[in-house]
Amino acid sequence: MVKRRGLNVVKEVDRLKRVKINGEERLATLNLAEGIQVYNEKLIKLNGLEYRVWDPFRSKLAAALLKGLKEFPISESSKVLYLGVSTGTTASHISDIIGEGGILFGVEFAPRVAREFIDRVVKHRKNVIPIIEDARRPDKYLSIFGKVDIVYCDLAQPDQTEIAILNCKKYLKNGGHLLLIVKARSIDVIKEPKEIFKIEAEKLENEGFKINQIIKLDPFDKDHALIDAIME
Ligand SMILES: C[S@@+](CC[C@H](N)C(=O)[O-])C[C@H]1O[C@@H](n2cnc3c(N)ncnc32)[C@H](O)[C@@H]1O
Repeated sequence: MVKRRGLNVVKEVDRLKRVKINGEERLATLNLAEGIQVYNEKLIKLNGLEYRVWDPFRSKLAAALLKGLKEFPISESSKVLYLGVSTGTTASHISDIIGEGGILFGVEFAPRVAREFIDRVVKHRKNVIPIIEDARRPDKYLSIFGKVDIVYCDLAQPDQTEIAILNCKKYLKNGGHLLLIVKARSIDVIKEPKEIFKIEAEKLENEGFKINQIIKLDPFDKDHALIDAIME
């Protein structure tokens, strides 16, 4: 839709859409870097605009949205701190959603992976800043400024809830959301995943977070859950 306000022409678009492809419900995000694919995802045109189809088997955030995440805290202009950005598959879709008015700081400690993240994502998007550091040392992030609206954490480390809490205490605004991906097998291979999700959620509650939702990611990712928690 095109609106006229004085002399400005403001184009209103949804940056995240639900679409039907071959009868299946899929998600797609408005491509901030037109013509450029990040992980060979499908590009489609909707109302003359280019969208990237978001693969829930490659991105746990897409899986959580399709599994019924009730509150999606990321929107246009959000400021996001992403721990464990890897080569940037999920980060690229967040970059599409937050648009040029938003910013994503992507933390990754593996140099080869970080280089791929820079080549595939950072080079083509002004709203993504790489931080090549250990997420256990948030005091070493030099390029981050101010507080963020969302901390997204997908480190697949046994102590990642503790790492997420450390980062939230330093950078997350009050009332901001922590979206924590829990991979049960990285924490304990014997305990039931359900039990592990409960224990990790309790750790957050003990540190003053309110649990909004715990959502299991199967069949897209077995034994994984996303915990949406608010820092109060
Ligand atoms: C499961 S992968 C992340 C996948 C990614 N979130 C996505 O959806 O595309 C976990 C990543 O976290 C990184 N990582 C693990 N521990 C880390 C730490 N302490 N500091 C920074 N990065 C870390 C790993 O190198 C790996 O790339």
